[in-house]
Amino acid sequence: MNQEKYLTLHEIVKAARLNLDQGLWDYLIGGSETETSLKRNRQALDSLAFRPRVLHDVSELDASSSFLGHPLRIPVLLAPIGSLQAFEAGGGASAAKAAEIFGTINILSSACKPDLETVADASNSAKMYQLYLLGDDAWMDQMINRAIDAGYVALCLVPDMVVYSRRERDLAKRFLPPTRRKDGHQTGGNDLEANFGFQAKLSWDTVKRVKDRYPIPLVLKGIATAEDAGLACEHGVEVIYVSNHGGRQLDHGRGTIDMLPEIVREVNGRASIVVDGGFMRGTDVVKGIALGADAVGIGKLEGLAMAADGVNGVVRALELLELEIQNCLAMLGVTRLDQLNPSYLCNAKAVGFSDATSAFPLLNLEDAGY
Ligand SMILES: Cc1cc2nc3c(=O)[nH]c(=O)nc-3n(C[C@H](O)[C@H](O)[C@H](O)COP(=O)(O)O)c2cc1C
Repeated sequence: MNQEKYLTLHEIVKAARLNLDQGLWDYLIGGSETETSLKRNRQALDSLAFRPRVLHDVSELDASSSFLGHPLRIPVLLAPIGSLQAFEAGGGASAAKAAEIFGTINILSSACKPDLETVADASNSAKMYQLYLLGDDAWMDQMINRAIDAGYVALCLVPDMVVYSRRERDLAKRFLPPTRRKDGHQTGGNDLEANFGFQAKLSWDTVKRVKDRYPIPLVLKGIATAEDAGLACEHGVEVIYVSNHGGRQLDHGRGTIDMLPEIVREVNGRASIVVDGGFMRGTDVVKGIALGADAVGIGKLEGLAMAADGVNGVVRALELLELEIQNCLAMLGVTRLDQLNPSYLCNAKAVGFSDATSAFPLLNLEDAGY
């Protein structure tokens, strides 16, 4: 699909830039306050070098994997993105379709249109539902039951979003993303802003309540320390999702790949592990897997691909990631993801400035009107 149109991920990012106005571009690629967390995500990835092994037969490569028993063509999940419909009219339904066509799992954000049943109907592949708590326990029960009835294979709560951060690119322009406008979301008719207090009340009691009542696997997205990963395991949480919301929430945090080793050690096989934050290239994905993640999430890259070309853009971005992952595996001297381990990596000095688009050095944003 689109093989001729986009030969590199650069071209997809550039097409996205050309399609987005300044407000949406900044909303998509920006972070909170000084954007230090956002830059550290990339800097941490850029500060790892490979230690390749040679003289292994790599003529047959397999970059496939599975997650919670569902097959993945590559170990890359589509992270939940609110307001996807602002980047392409199909919104969450387009992401779900792209995930099915390519062969991965989409995580639908509750701050995304269309509603969860419509998105469930849009594809036959496994999908997860990320719920922001915008109401009381009865409201939460209703939403979880709707997600279960619609066939979602896991429920995701987001403890790194207990307050909405200060995103100064947006504040400077008085820009409000669709999710923060009065009629901007589809989660039971409540206004996100007015009801965000329920997210602030999110606690380990909420986790216990959900685990006690619902058999659906639970994902905690936004775990940043071994301590909280350990507590999540004690609560029976099935998926620890290491994330700092793409540098969009707490500023001055660590780069997420730097969080991974202590969390992998603490979890010690008791839960599956996902990591996201700055993952833009196949080599980034390989680094995450080598350090013990079961899968990597893409957020900004998913949004950029959606803005570039909707369903086709996301499928093509995943195809290009697959090519990059396969190339990387071959040149590391491994044929499968389960042969990777931390010995394939070492610390190294990043070679340049790291930011949201620095994984694309050929991107001429001036050309694109940046
Ligand atoms: C435009 C945008 C909207 C997002 N909306 C949500 C959301 O509704 N729920 C959520 O859990 N995370 C949300 N995130 C965070 C992503 O799920 C993911 O954690 C993050 O983007 C990963 O970092 P990356 O963008 O560097 O890949 C959003 C990210 C972006 C870029």
